[in-house]
Amino acid sequence: TLTQGDFRVADLSLAAAGRHQIRLAEREMPGLMALRSEYAGRRPLAGAKIAGSLHMTVQTAVLIETLTALGAQVRWASCNIFSTQDEAAAAVAVGSGTPEEPAGVPVFAWKGESLEEYWWAADQIFRWPGGGPNLILDDGGDATLLVHEGVALEKAGGELPERGDDEGRILRATLRASHRENPRRFTELAAGLLGVSEETTTGVNRLYRLARTGDLLFPAINVNDSVTKSKFDNRYGIRHSLTDGLNRATDVLIGGKVAFVAGYGDVGKGAAEALRGQGARVIVSEVDPICALQAAMDGFQVTTLDDVVGQCDFFITTTGNTHVITADHLQRMKPGAVVGNIGHFDDEIDLHGLSQVPGVNRVEIKPQVHEWTIPTPGGTTSIIVLSEGRLLNLGNATGHPSFVMSNSFANQVLAQIELFTRRAEYDRDVYRLSKELDEKVARSHLDALGVRLTTLTGEQADYIGVSIDGPYKSDHYRY
Ligand code: NAI
Repeated sequence: TLTQGDFRVADLSLAAAGRHQIRLAEREMPGLMALRSEYAGRRPLAGAKIAGSLHMTVQTAVLIETLTALGAQVRWASCNIFSTQDEAAAAVAVGSGTPEEPAGVPVFAWKGESLEEYWWAADQIFRWPGGGPNLILDDGGDATLLVHEGVALEKAGGELPERGDDEGRILRATLRASHRENPRRFTELAAGLLGVSEETTTGVNRLYRLARTGDLLFPAINVNDSVTKSKFDNRYGIRHSLTDGLNRATDVLIGGKVAFVAGYGDVGKGAAEALRGQGARVIVSEVDPICALQAAMDGFQVTTLDDVVGQCDFFITTTGNTHVITADHLQRMKPGAVVGNIGHFDDEIDLHGLSQVPGVNRVEIKPQVHEWTIPTPGGTTSIIVLSEGRLLNLGNATGHPSFVMSNSFANQVLAQIELFTRRAEYDRDVYRLSKELDEKVARSHLDALGVRLTTLTGEQADYIGVSIDGPYKSDHYRY
């Protein structure tokens, strides 16, 4: 049984509602359910203690309960202050118990955390009774960052130069408090970690940077670049959840309007396709000539934001970069423009810069929907900003649907099994799962869609130089 203080969620009485949604989601997550049956009774993760930091949604609840079914112990926080579905968090904490006597997984997540609460929760997933964790499951890299910064601070004797932004300041304060409590806490913790599996592009970029400079403290598996993750979740997931977020937030008709999408990577492709599907005229911006050419060949106008900022009704950032929409751009938008981000962090849109402009005012229309009134030479204008510039598909809606997350999370489970059971194979570097595992994840989703695969003949397999059972492509194939 969990006692109060072992977890923190918004309201345990939401657990029954959460459980119904989890039960329905399981039907739509054949990849995770297949792993549960494949490993039934074998418990490959017995002894694994997983610190998880990933949007605490209904789909994540199915992931968590798959990890525990395979034998793992888990502590969980969300990787975004707005992305938790409170009913899912409650159901996971209650588990097989009751709201009065919860007996599930220690979850530290609720919708609408402050940044102080966010880093408090991130720290809680590293506080295990009796030692641990030995694995991290991360999305965006904040849990990994906490450990790396914690070790750096301990090495420096408890002080590091301040980081400029609010979030950095709060992270440092969390780490200094930990240092006062135990000056070797993160150093010891890092030594016990077998590795991290990382969910998203932004987190993976952070990991490669750490590996390049020789600063990565433990092995990492890049789940994002499994084909069955980034070519599905990032694209088809966004195609579903971007419009869901826009609709729930504003209910403004998309058809006939002009929509601007910054970035034409996997997420940008899904975003542009979704908006076009609703009848918008979509304009794309890119810095990479290959992606810019792809967007043009897909039939989108490709130009700079400066060129069209006064003409667009929707602005969506998908780059994972910083200050893509500047305070100056925000002031030049037409009245009523809807602005949102689906890249991992909130600095793609410079709302901080906008808040410094004299005479600017912000009104909450409803949670995660704000109207910003901006002075203009002739009077004022106003724009609508979603989720304070954080992931709008999770802040204003419920994120990607179960079926696509089943692909992503099957990769996560396989990565955790790899790190835990084949630890000798992994060094302090960033790895990807094998093509065999990628194909296995895809295969586990075919029946549910009524897909009938063609089997190669022996002659055909020899002719193209693959085995009848796969893998069917070389590692450099791009899909
Ligand atoms: P990606 O690397 O495939 O695409 C990003 C694209 O943005 C690249 O093509 C890049 O050239 C372009 N870009 C960079 N700076 C730019 C600028 N200043 N102006 C215009 N284009 C620019 O990455 P991916 O996988 O599409 O992910 C993008 C972001 O979305 C990441 O932060 C990722 O973590 C996040 N993500 C969010 C999800 C969600 O549910 N909201 C799901 C999956 C990923």
